[in-house]
Amino acid sequence: MWLNLEEIAPYVIDCFVDNMRLEYDRVTHTTHNVAGVDIKTSQFGHTKTVEYLDPSELSQTSYFGPIVDSLVAEGYVRNVSIRGAPYDFRKAPNELGEFYVKLKSLIEETYTLNNNSRVTLVGHSMGNPVTLYFLNHQTQAWKDKYIQRFITLAGVWGGVIKTLRLFASGDSLGLSLVVSPLKVRPEQRSMPSTAWLMPSDLFWNPDEILIQQPKRNYTLHGYYMRQDTENLIRDLTPPGVEVHCLHGNGLPTPGRLVYDVKSWFDYQPSVIPDDGDGTVNIRSLLGCLQWQKKQKQKVYHEIFKDAEHMKILDMPEIIAYIKHLQVSEAHCLYSID
Ligand SMILES: *[C@@H]1O[C@H](CO)[C@@H](O)[C@H](O)[C@H]1NC(C)=O
Ligand SMILES: *[C@@H]1O[C@H](CO)[C@@H](O)[C@H](O)[C@H]1NC(C)=O
Ligand SMILES: *[C@@H]1O[C@H](CO)[C@@H](O)[C@H](O)[C@H]1NC(C)=O
Repeated sequence: MWLNLEEIAPYVIDCFVDNMRLEYDRVTHTTHNVAGVDIKTSQFGHTKTVEYLDPSELSQTSYFGPIVDSLVAEGYVRNVSIRGAPYDFRKAPNELGEFYVKLKSLIEETYTLNNNSRVTLVGHSMGNPVTLYFLNHQTQAWKDKYIQRFITLAGVWGGVIKTLRLFASGDSLGLSLVVSPLKVRPEQRSMPSTAWLMPSDLFWNPDEILIQQPKRNYTLHGYYMRQDTENLIRDLTPPGVEVHCLHGNGLPTPGRLVYDVKSWFDYQPSVIPDDGDGTVNIRSLLGCLQWQKKQKQKVYHEIFKDAEHMKILDMPEIIAYIKHLQVSEAHCLYSID
């Protein structure tokens, strides 16, 4: 389903949107696929599903591919010592119960498969708060036994302004030539994860204008899906494992969305930029620093120049950083042996 370039061709995209769209139930506070649609993440545990967003040969949508390749070159084995944990990114952690059960077994299985070696978790973007929520719900004894560290790439710790555009006007997924924002907007509006990643009131002041239109200015305000999800990691409870928090800065990132009479709200706004990695605002990326004094495990933090939100997954400096941690460790294990 995601992100298949063949599916986003004109006309076919309507079908894509209809398949991806969720329906919200105000009674149970949960979402479900539309009738007749069943979506599964395939081959849980294998890296296949997270290496490329689009499996077709047409596409250049590489995701964790470069990091996986570089570790495989150092002797890691796909689906044995390097694994993938795909989840339904349309949902927020309050609806990811089944995923978390599978993730926990995957970590335990990977530990056992590799001579009882503790597992390093690597997250990207929303994968980081999804992982934080998981760690916050495990015992310290379990984390001490199974988790070596948590490497966070471009983590969204306090939400992101861009979600507001998804809700208001839709977002063309960076493919503005092929995808009309209005066509994908119904799907984007239906995702609890968009509500979850709205700017946090602990990172934005209540009087900061986030969206401006001729008749009204908007600051933070809540509604159903937002209320269901806003407290899941709001307090940023420390993960209780060693953290390596890596991200970029210095790139124009949506800071405030400004609409005029004509654009409000079916057309794209003009954007007053903020600092960030192109997608995530800098204050949100820096959220991991809050743990430095709140947990005994170390929190390393490094900013990489030009580490744009997606590009960070294919940057030699980032890959070298991860490789250095993971490979020096393997050597260390052997020497203890
Ligand atoms: C991945 O590894 C698991 C656990 O060893 C195994 O059950 C599964 O069949 C493997 N998947 C693939 C596609 O090789
Ligand atoms: C696990 O340890 C045993 C004994 O020390 C060794 O023979 C084996 O190669 C190790 N396996 C892995 C996957 O490191
Ligand atoms: C919205 O805020 C801007 C900037 O502070 C201000 O110039 C404008 O008058 C405000 N608009 C409304 C409708 O209050």
